[in-house]
Amino acid sequence: MSQSATPRRGRKGPAIPDKINVLLVGGGGREHALAWRIAQSPHLASLYVTHHENPGLAALGQPCTAPTEAREQWRLVKWCNQHKIDLVVVGPEGPLAEGLADALATERRLVFGVNKSAAQIESNKAWAKQLMRSSSVPTGEARIFSNYEQAVQYVQSREEMPVIKASGLAAGKGVILPDTLDEAIEALGQIMKQRVFGTAGETVVIEERLSGPEVSIFALVDGRNIYVLEPCQDHKRLLERDEGPNTGGMGAYSPVSWLDDQMLARIENEILVPTVDALVREEIEYRGVLYAGLMLTAAGPKVIEFNCRFGDPECQVLMSRLQSDVLAALWATAAGRLDEIELVWDERASCIIVMAAPGYPGSYKKGLPISGLDDASRIENVQIFHAGTRRTDGEIITTGGRVLGVTALAPTLSEARERALQACDLISFEGAQLRRDIGAASGALR
Ligand code: AMP
Ligand code: GLY
Repeated sequence: MSQSATPRRGRKGPAIPDKINVLLVGGGGREHALAWRIAQSPHLASLYVTHHENPGLAALGQPCTAPTEAREQWRLVKWCNQHKIDLVVVGPEGPLAEGLADALATERRLVFGVNKSAAQIESNKAWAKQLMRSSSVPTGEARIFSNYEQAVQYVQSREEMPVIKASGLAAGKGVILPDTLDEAIEALGQIMKQRVFGTAGETVVIEERLSGPEVSIFALVDGRNIYVLEPCQDHKRLLERDEGPNTGGMGAYSPVSWLDDQMLARIENEILVPTVDALVREEIEYRGVLYAGLMLTAAGPKVIEFNCRFGDPECQVLMSRLQSDVLAALWATAAGRLDEIELVWDERASCIIVMAAPGYPGSYKKGLPISGLDDASRIENVQIFHAGTRRTDGEIITTGGRVLGVTALAPTLSEARERALQACDLISFEGAQLRRDIGAASGALR
């Protein structure tokens, strides 16, 4: 949306060549949306994808046959060398936290995605909390514990129910909002003693519970400059009216009409700029996406969490509204040249509705045949992004919890939602779950 100055640091890489070979890492709906836009770029020579089993990605890119696991990174390096990859775009946080960007970046090959130490902003919530404290970035009050008994004592000593967060990466499941003291102690036991999230639960962050509407703000950061993208709102709860368990995200929309320019400027000045400054002070070169999950509290905007990648499904609505060349933007971020780009957005509203498998976000059924995709995708201004699907014997079946992201553009948010719903209603698989109220409560600050 805009550019901000921040202390100048870091080196500038080359300008984008006429044609580049791109490798896209990741296999969900976010990556399908990125691939869809990348494939339209005039700068694209060849697009390779690591998750060719996703039918959406298979339609747009050639398969990369090398593994992406941390212990086999050398194989991917070799594969990138052989295929003359110029730019690697990393979608998910897992490979970033494992140092994939560090392993793949060279003088000639750029990586869109942060290095391992920068990825800590997401992979180490305790560290991120301290970073925010050190730079007075507004966020909930929190205490950090690595000792179970001390954590329990702290929770018992508080009057209000806090939020309990596993410090490490827990696939979006590491945040618990207990209603009672018993539930809070139970959650601490599961995270710290039973280690349901593995080593991610060695340390917990116990945070003050905030309230207010949530908004997702994404900024491209190139080590020197930041470029704030259009705001989005995600819907994390499974059920309509924000009830039921938290999920990875059941739908999102953009723009966010109730977020005015003044608030956005505040978010930029009070949150994004000081955070990037703090990273610079820590001598961390941050090149990629800075995703601020914010709550607009009565006392102003506060950080709920930082992530080091695009949100899913927020990325899908951003890609549907982006009119500029995404590859030029991704390259500029990786090359430290964000000061040279200007992004143009479709003024229309975009709304994505996620169709999830029965049982999600708990254990869910797989292998359910999906019908109606062709009819749904024929609706004008509708894009269907594949998240958890496979093609078998000519048929598309479900393989994931979040199965599809049905995205529509229209002049208003309610028309975009109606259009997305119209498409969803043509698609069917057994027990599909979806929310029909994405963006419906967006008129007011809830
Ligand atoms: P996260 O996985 O960090 O995005 O958290 C999932 C959801 O938990 C957020 O979208 C919020 O709705 C909620 N949440 C996280 N931290 C807090 C907090 N400090 N106060 C209230 N709700 C929170
Ligand atoms: N949509 C929330 C996330 O990507 O974490």
